[in-house]
Amino acid sequence: MTVAPDAPLLFFDSGVGGLSILGPTRAALPNAHVVYAADSAGFPYGTKSEAEIAARVPALLGRLVERYRPRLAVIACNTASTIALSAVRAALDVPVVGTVPAIKPAALVSRSRVFGVLGTDATVRQPYVDRLAAEFGADCIVLRHGSAALVQLAEAKLRGEVLDPAIARDALAGLFDQPGGDRMDTVVLACTHFPLVEAELAAASPRPLHFVHGGEGIARRIAYLTQGQRWPAERRAGTAVFTRLDESVGLLAGALASYGLERVEVL
Ligand code: DGL
Repeated sequence: MTVAPDAPLLFFDSGVGGLSILGPTRAALPNAHVVYAADSAGFPYGTKSEAEIAARVPALLGRLVERYRPRLAVIACNTASTIALSAVRAALDVPVVGTVPAIKPAALVSRSRVFGVLGTDATVRQPYVDRLAAEFGADCIVLRHGSAALVQLAEAKLRGEVLDPAIARDALAGLFDQPGGDRMDTVVLACTHFPLVEAELAAASPRPLHFVHGGEGIARRIAYLTQGQRWPAERRAGTAVFTRLDESVGLLAGALASYGLERVEVL
């Protein structure tokens, strides 16, 4: 089937985290029409149960695909992807790209063979993470830590608030303070919110760390899956769609506009 040039790419996250995937995708596909969906009514995902996420995410994506008819959907959220990716794929008739912790690249770059996986509480306990660690990091110590506060820090940063440096410091301490943590040289940012606060994490670390995440790789995957398709001749304003509109949405307007999201809608 031919894809219309203005058929959008749909990005989905609980909040602003998916912008860390949208950024590199816009660099790779500058004229792509974009719809960015944030499940603000369900935010945050990282402290929810598997059952709640498994019930919520496929249903919401179904409604979004029906409304916006995207050429491809991106679950720009590690928590939702590690729990619900196969259910979403089964429910939708468009290609779905997920976001899974960048454990493979971390295992490739870690020299000390000790790396951390910093995600949400829900992500770091997933069997999906066990499988990735066993497959790619079998000769490594893979430390894990979940931080809900760091998710809130990323949201606060994009709302333009003054940030508390203790939050990034405490999140890293959750890894450094585990057995073997003194040798950790690499940290997987296994939540899409965390690349948005990479500078704060780097500043809070007592020594240089290598941070890895999946943004660029996912952008390349999207470009690959849409190869040969037609795109609009010019870039036009993208749409941010929220499941609940509240005062924080207004405070995010500047950050959203810097990613080309100039229109706001409610689902
Ligand atoms: N950005 C999400 C992730 O990648 C979830 C953050 C949250 O809602 O807790 O895991």
